[in-house]
Amino acid sequence: MSTVPHATGYHTPVLSHTVLKYLVTDIDGTYVDATAGGGGHVAAILSVLSPKGRVVAVDRDSDAVQTVKARLPDAIKMRRLTVCKGRFSNLQNLIPDLLPATGLLLDLGVSSHQLDTGQRGFSHRQSAYLDMRMDTDLNLTAADLVNGATEDELLTILRSWGEEPSARAIARAMIANRPIETTTGLARTVRDAVPARQESRAVARTFQALRIAVNQELEELAQVLETSLNTVAEGGRMVVISYHSLEDRMVKRMLRDGVLNGEPKRDLYGNRLVPWKPLTRRPVTPDAAEIAANRRSRSAKLRAGTRCSVPVST
Ligand SMILES: C[S@@+](CC[C@H](N)C(=O)[O-])C[C@H]1O[C@@H](n2cnc3c(N)ncnc32)[C@H](O)[C@@H]1O
Repeated sequence: MSTVPHATGYHTPVLSHTVLKYLVTDIDGTYVDATAGGGGHVAAILSVLSPKGRVVAVDRDSDAVQTVKARLPDAIKMRRLTVCKGRFSNLQNLIPDLLPATGLLLDLGVSSHQLDTGQRGFSHRQSAYLDMRMDTDLNLTAADLVNGATEDELLTILRSWGEEPSARAIARAMIANRPIETTTGLARTVRDAVPARQESRAVARTFQALRIAVNQELEELAQVLETSLNTVAEGGRMVVISYHSLEDRMVKRMLRDGVLNGEPKRDLYGNRLVPWKPLTRRPVTPDAAEIAANRRSRSAKLRAGTRCSVPVST
């Protein structure tokens, strides 16, 4: 068992101390953890709030929702914790009465439970149906994509979301080896399509790209960032932990420029109007001790910002 506080077999929370430092500005406030997972960050936040303070835990995965409910029944009974199943792009419809929040936490990507539960199909280390859905109520699986997409569509997925240099060769091999129904079958196809020294990275990048596509992870992130001005109260905080450069770039852009694409808004004099004040000039990363205790934390990057009361001109 890990020595990291609030860790369970489901997942070890990453950068918990830094999350609390940046997220919690008012111990009586309402905090939304929109990626609740195993409830590690939820438990950490509850541990520093007053009895009046409240956490809303959201996750699109039913396993996570059941786990958080089973882990923290007293907090639920005392109305300090509300647990909801849903996507973070949809917070405004999911929990309208609890918004805007004092703080919003997003700890992106997948949980250890999702990776380690073979039949969920996220990992090539265990043979299983090629599923990869975080929300198993949805229809589209990774197998549907691999077996139904055109070569160009697969190429775009592998290039855009895996940044995979051998994308063309892998896309062709997928088409040639259809149907590919299992995690190990896909891993074998990728290994056979690339030079030996690239095999393990190519497999990891292919699985990442398909997972991002199946779960529309970047569309989800764009939506939650673009609506963050409505979900976080003035003076409140947003803390985001990302695990790959595509996500980190989007978070950095939103906190710095207030937009994901195009030019920042400007006032009549041409000054940039930025609704977030970044609190982290550079992303915070886990130290050597945390990485030693939890190897999966090694690619984490945390950024935080304060929601300004009026757009700040810079
Ligand atoms: C890295 S884990 C979070 C772990 C959590 N912080 C903990 O301490 O246990 C990411 C979680 O976010 C969830 N998730 C990913 N994308 C989501 C989305 N768009 N909406 C809601 N939950 C999402 C996943 O299902 C997964 O449980």
